[in-house]
Amino acid sequence: MTQGGTTGAKTPRASRVVMTESVLPGDGNPLGTAFGGRIAQWIDVAAAIACQRHCRQRVVTASMDDLHFLKPIRVGMTVELRAQVNATFRTSMESGVRIESENPLTGERAHVCTAYLTFVAQDEKGRPVPVPALVLETDEDRRREHDAKRRRAVRLERARVKRERLLAETEERG
Ligand SMILES: CC(C)(COP(=O)(O)OP(=O)(O)OC[C@H]1O[C@@H](n2cnc3c(N)ncnc32)[C@H](O)[C@@H]1OP(=O)(O)O)[C@@H](O)C(=O)NCCC(=O)NCCS
Repeated sequence: MTQGGTTGAKTPRASRVVMTESVLPGDGNPLGTAFGGRIAQWIDVAAAIACQRHCRQRVVTASMDDLHFLKPIRVGMTVELRAQVNATFRTSMESGVRIESENPLTGERAHVCTAYLTFVAQDEKGRPVPVPALVLETDEDRRREHDAKRRRAVRLERARVKRERLLAETEERG
């Protein structure tokens, strides 16, 4: 179990999300492949639902790690997004999303992207609130949590540098 409240503690399995979408012409670009922004939107929604199922609070996206689309997703393909909570911290949670494309005629599948997002639970006034602990059931759950903790350290350091740069720019402008 990670740090956090024990009330409402849940396994990653309890909040897992499977979301299936069809890439329609309106989701595509002029090249006939999916618009990356649409895939990012689906990723955000799937990850948010997993986190909200975990904490049953309002959640906001604090960050989305780099997205790398390893293979094109063509218009007409089916897209399956599998999201789960990898780790919980004090008021934040990391959700991992695996995105696979599926050719609807042949069933052939490809892993196109994996994304990691952080959501913060908030009360009705927008103040961060503690989230329930994550109960790790399997070795895979433990590996995911271990990796999520490493990613968090890198992510928060990058956010700190960016925040300082932004503040410095704002001060320069007066
Ligand atoms: C994300 C946000 C709530 C953080 O608020 P904050 O005032 O920095 O609050 P805190 O410093 O108390 O941090 C709260 C949690 O957010 C985490 N956090 C803050 N910035 C983060 C970032 N860039 N990436 C990941 N986690 C982050 C902190 O680590 C902390 O988690 P913890 O309690 O589990 O340790 C705030 O920046 C915000 O509201 N951003 C806009 C969110 C939004 O509107 N998203 C939709 C897209 S625009």
